[in-house]
Amino acid sequence: MLVAANWKMNGSKVANETLIKGVIAGFSDAESVNNDVAICPPFVYIDSVGQLLADSEVRLGAQNVSHLEIGAYTGEVSPSMLKDMACRYVIVGHSERRSLYAEGDQLVAQKFVSVTKQDLIPILCVGELLEEREACDTNDVIARQLDAVIDLAGIENFKNAIIAYEPVWAIGTGKTATPKQAQEVHEFIRLRLARHDVAIANDIRILYGGSVNANNAQDLFSMADIDGGLIGGASLIVDDFLSICKAMR
Ligand code: PGA
Repeated sequence: MLVAANWKMNGSKVANETLIKGVIAGFSDAESVNNDVAICPPFVYIDSVGQLLADSEVRLGAQNVSHLEIGAYTGEVSPSMLKDMACRYVIVGHSERRSLYAEGDQLVAQKFVSVTKQDLIPILCVGELLEEREACDTNDVIARQLDAVIDLAGIENFKNAIIAYEPVWAIGTGKTATPKQAQEVHEFIRLRLARHDVAIANDIRILYGGSVNANNAQDLFSMADIDGGLIGGASLIVDDFLSICKAMR
């Protein structure tokens, strides 16, 4: 399983050091044998957080990336730069990128491809809006978001990828999907991938994200198709994040 912290636009040099030291101190090697933990700080802290994590089992990730490799693209960060900074994971297609920065399915698919080309592990986020769930369109939305990436990247590029199901109505709202609601969508995602490759579908880790906290993590992680979590708010509090990590099966 994997628990990944998405710090979003939070942190400072001082706060990061306190948080990371607390996480590392509370995280024994024994717990990490079959499970992975990652932290995705803002770009500007990638280097310093990477140094703080260097001797630990906790891996480094990024929250976003350019779909391009090099050149005159002011403000962008390329996959090879992230690789250079020893990142392992890159979140692509987070709903905040999709809704606030107009990233469409095609751009998300291009980012996914550029990440896999550098042998980084994409964490591809998919999820429906509240109105889409209420209109019973959840599966259609998830299928559209997934298919755009499968079409461009090819199913074989999912071998070393992770998917995060994040219902948009559950992100930062304190409203978590029930374990049953989440499981239904996770199963749907696995079946959608299995149309192309059963082995890849069975092996891929599908994380749940959206108001995961110390109290609900265990119930969510106990579901058959939930293989960990992408954690926003609760990843900023040492004890809460550690409790979530310890809830991994
Ligand atoms: P949240 O965010 O845990 O604060 O709901 C999750 C995410 O956006 O990845």
